[in-house]
Amino acid sequence: MNKRQTRSFALISTAIAAVVFLGMTVDSHRQFPTLTNAQQITPPVTRGKDVWHQYNCINCHTLFGEGAYYAPDLTKITLQRGAPYLTAFLKNPSKFYDEQRHRRLMPNLKLGDGEIADLIAFLDWVSKVDNQGWPPRPILVTGASIPGMDLTVAQQNVADGNQPPAARPVSGKEDPIALGEALFRTTATPVCSACHSIAPGVNLAGPSLSGVANRAKQVIASPDYKGKAKDAEGFIRESIVTPSAYLHPGEMFSANGMSFMPDTFAKSLTPEQVDQLVAYLASFQ
Ligand code: HEC
Ligand code: HEC
Repeated sequence: MNKRQTRSFALISTAIAAVVFLGMTVDSHRQFPTLTNAQQITPPVTRGKDVWHQYNCINCHTLFGEGAYYAPDLTKITLQRGAPYLTAFLKNPSKFYDEQRHRRLMPNLKLGDGEIADLIAFLDWVSKVDNQGWPPRPILVTGASIPGMDLTVAQQNVADGNQPPAARPVSGKEDPIALGEALFRTTATPVCSACHSIAPGVNLAGPSLSGVANRAKQVIASPDYKGKAKDAEGFIRESIVTPSAYLHPGEMFSANGMSFMPDTFAKSLTPEQVDQLVAYLASFQ
């Protein structure tokens, strides 16, 4: 190529790149209203965004990967934690601290009830924005996982201190325990493992389910138990479909007689799926 050819080559390729870039920008803007569910930006959502900025949540947290990386990413938080839990947490985060697990603490920002409701509406809108897979790897809330971004069962077993999968009985695809485990870790919405660890003593937003079958028997036998279950399987089933039937003492897991566990599983899971979860959890003697 001589000098002139080089120059036209540079000009033409710059022009092509610019046209492609402009086209893509226009195309993205065209899609914004759909991707962001613009019609769902209600007044509480807008107010919640103002509260978010007013209290500088972004100084510690990220949304869509933007912000400070001191505290967990909150892009999908409302898909992992229900409104009752988030309301109680934002009102007084220190109630949920566990000296052993938390090194970083969230300050009590003294938010009002209205501000909290608006924040949750805003975060819920955020969680439903189609961000086309960005951020690629959200920082997860301690112990949380979201569908499709879960640790592999093997990794999780190592993290939970369990036997490696090879040491467990081989289970075929139709094994209800294996199906229950898959639901628990990846497919139920919200996913159970976002709130429950199966490692002893590790309480997340929900209690550890290590040894839940044994504990169930003790709970049923105690005079404080007012639910209808007669055995461990029954207790686990009841906990899934009517979470507030039995509440742990204290304020970690419930407020005003309502469990922080979503009460939507009776509807969102099929009876077979509930059976599979019960089979899986009842195996934790
Ligand atoms: C000074 C830093 C800081 C600020 C400011 C802050 N947070 Fe946090 N937040 C944290 C830390 C640290 C955690 C993680 C605590 C833990 O490990 O459970 C957290 C956790 C959370 C959680 C997840 C709780 C859970 O257990 O799932 C939510 C929701 C949350 N913050 C919302 C907010 C909102 C909304 C604001 C603004 C109104 C805010 N935060 C401001 C530090 C902060
Ligand atoms: C948003 C967090 C959250 C999610 C998601 C969640 N749970 Fe829970 N779960 C809780 C809390 C909190 C409790 C304890 C409520 C109480 O006793 O006050 C609980 C209690 C339980 C119990 C009873 C345990 C005991 O010791 O009493 C079982 C069993 C259980 N959950 C199973 C599940 C299964 C299965 C799923 C998924 C289909 C699930 N949970 C999803 C928060 C959650």
